[in-house]
Amino acid sequence: MLITGAGGQLGTALREEFPDAVALTRAEWDVALPAPASLKPPDVVLHAAAWTDVDGAEDDPQGAAAVNVGGTANVAELGAPLVYFSSDYVFDGHKHEPYVESDGPNPISAYGRSKLHGEAAAGDGSWIVRSSWLFGPTGHNFVRTMLRLGAERDEVSVVDDQHGSPTYVGHLASATRELLERPPGIWHVTAEGDCTWAEFAAAIFAEAGLDCRVRTITTAELGRPAPRPAFSVLRSEKDAPALPHWREGLRACLDRLA
Ligand SMILES: NC(=O)c1ccc[n+]([C@@H]2O[C@H](COP(=O)([O-])OP(=O)(O)OC[C@H]3O[C@@H](n4cnc5c(N)ncnc54)[C@H](OP(=O)(O)O)[C@@H]3O)[C@@H](O)[C@H]2O)c1
Repeated sequence: MLITGAGGQLGTALREEFPDAVALTRAEWDVALPAPASLKPPDVVLHAAAWTDVDGAEDDPQGAAAVNVGGTANVAELGAPLVYFSSDYVFDGHKHEPYVESDGPNPISAYGRSKLHGEAAAGDGSWIVRSSWLFGPTGHNFVRTMLRLGAERDEVSVVDDQHGSPTYVGHLASATRELLERPPGIWHVTAEGDCTWAEFAAAIFAEAGLDCRVRTITTAELGRPAPRPAFSVLRSEKDAPALPHWREGLRACLDRLA
């Protein structure tokens, strides 16, 4: 088994779940380039390497595509079955009930488009695992940002008009093991339950015992360069592995950080 992007937050969780896998960080394989000649052909690849800077992709869509599409094609070139981690951002967010696997994607950002084209580059016979709002004890994520801000400030302003399912990378890594026993195809794999970013921030402060207020703002007020789907809750209409509720994932993450 080979893990790409092994230094990222999901890559780190996958390394823990699959300790015998060959795990390559970006320094060991920049997937925008062909695979290192020394790499032995794997039986299966967990492809966690990606351009994940959503706002940065608006400025440099070609850079994002080089990694998320071209990089995925390079990984597919290895000829092994591939688990490609995709995103809720392949949807436009106009639906008012959870997106299922058969819903048509319609990305509204350069990042979302690169992730969707990456799904195609992964090829038939791949597991396309769409997840959302990932967080874990390492790397850049909302939980770690809120813990830092909550310790420094009395109040933070957080968006309250985007809905999603915050998913703990440890739970997604365990579900990946279960998924390998299912047939390839598109799978929606996220935590149970959903919330807004503001609700998530309030839960983080409550669980961490931080005395910090959440002031709710709109996405328009925040004014980020990349548009985000307003509603990107994913559910499976297939027998995808069930994950614990996002609040349980939050507690598991905080336990790890403690
Ligand atoms: N984060 C989310 O909320 C979210 C939601 C849904 C789906 N996903 C998907 O889940 C997967 C894992 O995301 P994540 O949250 O773990 O992201 P992450 O923490 O940013 O990890 C991505 C990793 O890929 C590496 N990388 C970037 N460009 C690379 C390249 N050219 N070659 C090799 N490695 C490269 C990064 O290295 P550097 O740090 O050195 O750049 C980083 O270690 C991605 O496919 C992402 O699109 C993420």
